[in-house]
Amino acid sequence: MVMVTGAAGFGGSRLAEALLDLGHSVTGLDVLAPNHAEALRRQFAHPNFRYVWKSVQDIQPADIAGHSVVAHLAAQPDTPMAFESPRYTVMQNVAGTVELLEAVRHAGGVSKVLFAGSGNELGRPRYLPMDEDHPLTPHNPYGFSKAAGELAMWAWHRAYDIPSVVLSTGVVIGPGMRREVFIFKWLWNALQGRPIVVEGGRQTRDVTFIDDVVEAWVNAIQAPVDDVVGQKFYVGCGEEITVEDLAVMCRDTAGTSVPIEYVDYRPGEEGQREVFSTRKARQVLGYSASVPAAEAVRLTAEWVRTLIEARPGEVQPPVPPP
Ligand SMILES: NC(=O)c1ccc[n+]([C@@H]2O[C@H](COP(=O)([O-])OP(=O)(O)OC[C@H]3O[C@@H](n4cnc5c(N)ncnc54)[C@H](O)[C@@H]3O)[C@@H](O)[C@H]2O)c1
Repeated sequence: MVMVTGAAGFGGSRLAEALLDLGHSVTGLDVLAPNHAEALRRQFAHPNFRYVWKSVQDIQPADIAGHSVVAHLAAQPDTPMAFESPRYTVMQNVAGTVELLEAVRHAGGVSKVLFAGSGNELGRPRYLPMDEDHPLTPHNPYGFSKAAGELAMWAWHRAYDIPSVVLSTGVVIGPGMRREVFIFKWLWNALQGRPIVVEGGRQTRDVTFIDDVVEAWVNAIQAPVDDVVGQKFYVGCGEEITVEDLAVMCRDTAGTSVPIEYVDYRPGEEGQREVFSTRKARQVLGYSASVPAAEAVRLTAEWVRTLIEARPGEVQPPVPPP
């Protein structure tokens, strides 16, 4: 039986669905009220799915008992929000992870705990492509919180033999993605003839499609324990793309000629580069980044278009630059 924390979110809901399809029993834990957990509609109807409406910060050993795997995706995942609320972000992403690790420790019987790491843990790479040996070099409060969460995974592994596994990704996109992420906002605007607003432009991203990421998670969950416990994996696409090129890609995919407007970089972002070596994930997890970034943007745009058509005139609340 697998517990997925953050199950009502983008990655968690897709992971829960994939695991159910493979015959696993899944407990989804999330703070989101069940009636608002839109992404879990199909999962709620599945006989092998159970929902626990609870914060990881209140998780108890009894919640963990009976699960052989815990996939920890619950987090405050938003970089701009973390600039505004760094303390809340640390509570969620660091204290929340520690509470989970303590519950796992006292429950016993868990063979793998997987943590969703982020490319934001390495904002100033010392070499490219970044691999699993690269030191953590976060460059913003969100990156710090994810790096600290990852360090907790390794500290509890060394101290208490917690069977920690870390899977880190850059920006993950696809149908159901968070609407706060810049690629969603650009597609949403471009498809409606509005300008694309780019913070900075020369920084780079490794854009990965959700199905590829979910496949890597599933493979790690199903892999022999000795192959993955104590290991970190980068699950990227392996393409380094500047943010300004991504903006052009979104505009072209939308089939418009809307202007691209440039504003200042977010704090710490100027000079950020992101591209991951997926060699270890390929070798150990059988991972393959099968969807190139341009195709991932196209598939995401198709979904954004259906949202716009379903609710014409809906306004996306602007997120002010920090
Ligand atoms: N989406 C990306 O581009 C990306 C990239 C790298 C890493 N990640 C990491 O992957 C994970 C999932 O990201 P996502 O994009 O699916 O985010 P998401 O916001 O869609 O999902 C996160 C879920 O966690 C839940 N949650 C938040 N705090 C909680 C708490 N205290 N207890 C229980 N549930 C809580 C939220 O309600 C939400 O449903 C996060 O850990 C994020 O940091 C995401």
